[in-house]
Amino acid sequence: MEAVFLCVTMLFVLPQPSVRLTPTTMLYSGKSPDGSHVLSSAKYLQMELPVRIAHRVKGFRSLPFIIGCNPTILQVHELYIRAYHMLSDFPPITDLEAEGRYCKLVRQLLDDHKDVVTMLAEGFRESRKHIQDEALIRNFLDTTLTSRLGIRMLATHHIALHEDNPDFVGIICTRLSPKKIIEKWVDFARRLCEHQYGSSPRVRINGHVAARFPFIPLPLDYILPELLKNAMRATMESHLDTPHNAPDLVVTIANNDIDFVIRISDRGGGIPHSILDKVLDYHFTTAEESNQDPRMSNLFGIITNNGPQSGPMHGFGFGLPTSVAYAEYLGGSLTVQSMQGIGTDVYLRLRHIDGKGESFRI
Ligand SMILES: Nc1ncnc2c1ncn2[C@@H]1O[C@H](COP(=O)(O)OP(=O)(O)OP(=O)(O)O)[C@@H](O)[C@H]1O
Ligand SMILES: [Mg+2]
Repeated sequence: MEAVFLCVTMLFVLPQPSVRLTPTTMLYSGKSPDGSHVLSSAKYLQMELPVRIAHRVKGFRSLPFIIGCNPTILQVHELYIRAYHMLSDFPPITDLEAEGRYCKLVRQLLDDHKDVVTMLAEGFRESRKHIQDEALIRNFLDTTLTSRLGIRMLATHHIALHEDNPDFVGIICTRLSPKKIIEKWVDFARRLCEHQYGSSPRVRINGHVAARFPFIPLPLDYILPELLKNAMRATMESHLDTPHNAPDLVVTIANNDIDFVIRISDRGGGIPHSILDKVLDYHFTTAEESNQDPRMSNLFGIITNNGPQSGPMHGFGFGLPTSVAYAEYLGGSLTVQSMQGIGTDVYLRLRHIDGKGESFRI
């Protein structure tokens, strides 16, 4: 606690505005055999990261006092202050040797911050009763989580510039296949689902399955597993009496000049009218209700052992709101269409990075 107040006084009062890049700038910033592209990327990062982190520290400082004092939120706040100091104390990067040390520091910070989303989810859940202004907290979480995504994209991009993968320039995959990345996360979600429910729905992928285009896989790596877990959970929980006969999920890919759309359709009964306008709120979850269904504990006994509101398939009520924030940050959208009694369609729409019109900025 003390550390926070001591250190914030050391931070500048008004952080500078950040400089956001378009993926095209990142893609075409060139590759030179002498490594000068790595050096100029490191210089940009060295200037940019402390600015972005200072903005986040400012965000933590403007939280209502009682919420900012929550130990878990305070821990995240301190992580940001520590990162600010470590990054701004780093001497100017003038050669590749210093750049190597800087990369090591950035890697370490990425690792130190890997649990920040879960910690924020926990911290705000713990301080729920003190939250009076829901919009303020929503705004804080949207900004903190999307800014974190941006910071992680920039940092990972820089580190990845060192790798020699013919399909990648930093974090940008020059010929991303939506089908392949969907398949990767389908395998992941099915494994979790089988662990939790003893079985999992099959997934059919249709539409533009052969599409390939430049895009950044990282945000899809956050969003797709969340949407697939939700669809599989709904499917399994609406077929608890016939788990081995659960209906397939259908994932449709549509690609065009401007954007691409991934629709995930399940037959998990849909989202009831009574909760439809809440599912996009942070912390809204029906996890507790599932835990109370005796068929769940009788069948597998996993969720109740872990205590309420936890489990690999669902938990904090963060999956949907975070995915919406990420999609919008990338100039896209995520919409939910419920056919109550049948199932749910979720549409993830993302703009191409080299498409017509203005691209998003990281
Ligand atoms: N495809 C779906 N079909 C039916 N209900 C859904 C579907 N997707 C989401 N929901 C409902 O919306 C709620 C919120 O979803 P969200 O992904 O934000 O949180 P969660 O899955 O409960 O927890 P978390 O994703 O943080 O682990 C879920 O608890 C569930 O009740
Ligand atoms: Mg979820």
